Amino acid sequence: MTAIPAPADLKQPTLNPNAETVLVKRYLRKDEEGLVKESPTDMFWRVASSIAAEEEKYEKSPWEPEELARTFYDLMIEGVFLPNSPTLMNAGTPLGQLAACFVLPVPDSIEEIFDALKHAALIHKSGGGTGFSFSRLRPAGARVGTTGGIASGPLSFMRIFNTATEQIKQGGVRRGANMGILRVDHPDIIEFIRAKETEGEFNNFNLSVALTQEFMEQVEAGESYDLFDPRDGRIRGRLEAAQVFDLLVNKAWASGDPGIIFLDRINRDNPTPTQGEIEATNPCGEQPLLPYEACNLGSINLSRFVEIGDDGVRTLNTKRLGEIIHLAVRFLDDVIDASIYPLDEIADMVRTNRKIGLGVMGWADALYALGIPYDSDEALALGKEVMKMVQDESRAASAALAKERGPFPAYEESVFGRTGEGPYRNATTTTIAPTGSLSIIAGCSSGIEPCFALSFTRNVLDGEKLVEVNPVFELVVSETVTDEAEKITILDHVRRIGRLHNCPNAPEELLRVFRTAMDVSAKSHLAMQAAFQKYTDNAVSKTVNLPNEATEDDIREIYLEAYRQGVKGVTVYRDGSKTGQVLCTGDGA
Ligand code: CDP
Repeated sequence: MTAIPAPADLKQPTLNPNAETVLVKRYLRKDEEGLVKESPTDMFWRVASSIAAEEEKYEKSPWEPEELARTFYDLMIEGVFLPNSPTLMNAGTPLGQLAACFVLPVPDSIEEIFDALKHAALIHKSGGGTGFSFSRLRPAGARVGTTGGIASGPLSFMRIFNTATEQIKQGGVRRGANMGILRVDHPDIIEFIRAKETEGEFNNFNLSVALTQEFMEQVEAGESYDLFDPRDGRIRGRLEAAQVFDLLVNKAWASGDPGIIFLDRINRDNPTPTQGEIEATNPCGEQPLLPYEACNLGSINLSRFVEIGDDGVRTLNTKRLGEIIHLAVRFLDDVIDASIYPLDEIADMVRTNRKIGLGVMGWADALYALGIPYDSDEALALGKEVMKMVQDESRAASAALAKERGPFPAYEESVFGRTGEGPYRNATTTTIAPTGSLSIIAGCSSGIEPCFALSFTRNVLDGEKLVEVNPVFELVVSETVTDEAEKITILDHVRRIGRLHNCPNAPEELLRVFRTAMDVSAKSHLAMQAAFQKYTDNAVSKTVNLPNEATEDDIREIYLEAYRQGVKGVTVYRDGSKTGQVLCTGDGA
């Protein structure tokens, strides 16, 4: 593709200092000496122009590439829409790997295990994250045919993946992240659940146990279940479902890991079952993928759609949201063409299903601005309305692209093709990402999470600390609290403890609206996740945050409620239970 030169009259981005720091550290291109050689303007134009240039090959495209590049550029510099980090880092560069999410198969042979390890290293180097199911590996203690020796089991191989990730992160664009999954009926499941008992072990992994509806019923009925050898399906043991579940709950209470995923639910929504079975997700759990599949994500910042009407009332501009969704889908579909994939198998799989994951961020900020408490029925209803719109409009956009460029190659055999729905250009269109770094760049709350605090110190890369006060909170305080002394008391209180809790003189209205993750009950966290999941093709990244005093029973209740609410998986985090998280808190850029 020919590079489109930057027009002289481009608007300049206005970035807050935290966004600037993150861009300089990780996103802006550096020369051989490590000196930054592009400005944020250069970066956004590099991304916008190289993605828009893909339109040239589509005769029916209604867009002239430079005009589209300008449109993409404006969306990014205004913090309205951002593609996932690898696209920002690598678009228009020789590396050219633009997707954040990958799943690699780990078959049961030394050759194939070490192939997976090498492929993971290549993906981490380019800023992508990898998910693996280790369920196909023979259990510890099983015979090794070629040598007559004894197999060491999934855990021992996972340790190698963990160490390799540790080394790659020194030189890569960001620290590598992995998801490790094991089916609950694998004979090594107990060791897997206990894997993080020793502090620091498997620090480059998020772990999830793959559960099924059948297993949950066995837990509830107090039944036992069989463990199977993955090689031949022979029964290798039996466990009490409730005991396994209790251990899972106990370990999640202690360290946050393992989380759970409902593998049968995920496969029920697999749009291309003839292409294979889904056995794993990407590192943060929001993107279930087939083996060798990758997906690029993008997020629309909802807080930018809140507008004040003539009557002084703030509302969400859904008309504009609809227009932006169409542009975002075009952007993400172009990213698939622009991306260079680290393996031929991955390139083939991606181009066959053309999955994209459009989602939202800045949801909590939007609710703050609208004066709606996060844990209210109104917020759930609006969440559903907004996500339904993202789902419907992204499908409509994908259908329009299918007319312009043809459906995804596996369309005919997909669930859509078989039922006559579509045709679509993309097998999936929606995913809610954590937006750990994107939300810093856009200056908004992350994903659909409630704000962690109203002011906090963010530990960014290399131990550097950044202080942030929620801008919507500051704005609303300045609008509603007229007494200067009172204003100072409130802001000081928030600066000190990060929330309004126990703040003397805080007006009722502020207390009602400005709730933080710790003020929101676990049930409300899950209800929000379920509201967005209802209209999301892939999955929703959501951490249920709990105070340090939360009990194992609280966690058990969350896991059971997650099952009842129909979400695809869930992660809990009890304050203070982990010293260093793999991801999701903004330290992972
Ligand atoms: O905000 P950003 O685009 O950087 O990423 P995110 O939304 O926080 O995470 C989306 C996905 O990117 C994760 O689920 C991982 O697949 C990948 N990721 C990664 O590989 N390494 C990181 N340090 C952060 C994210």
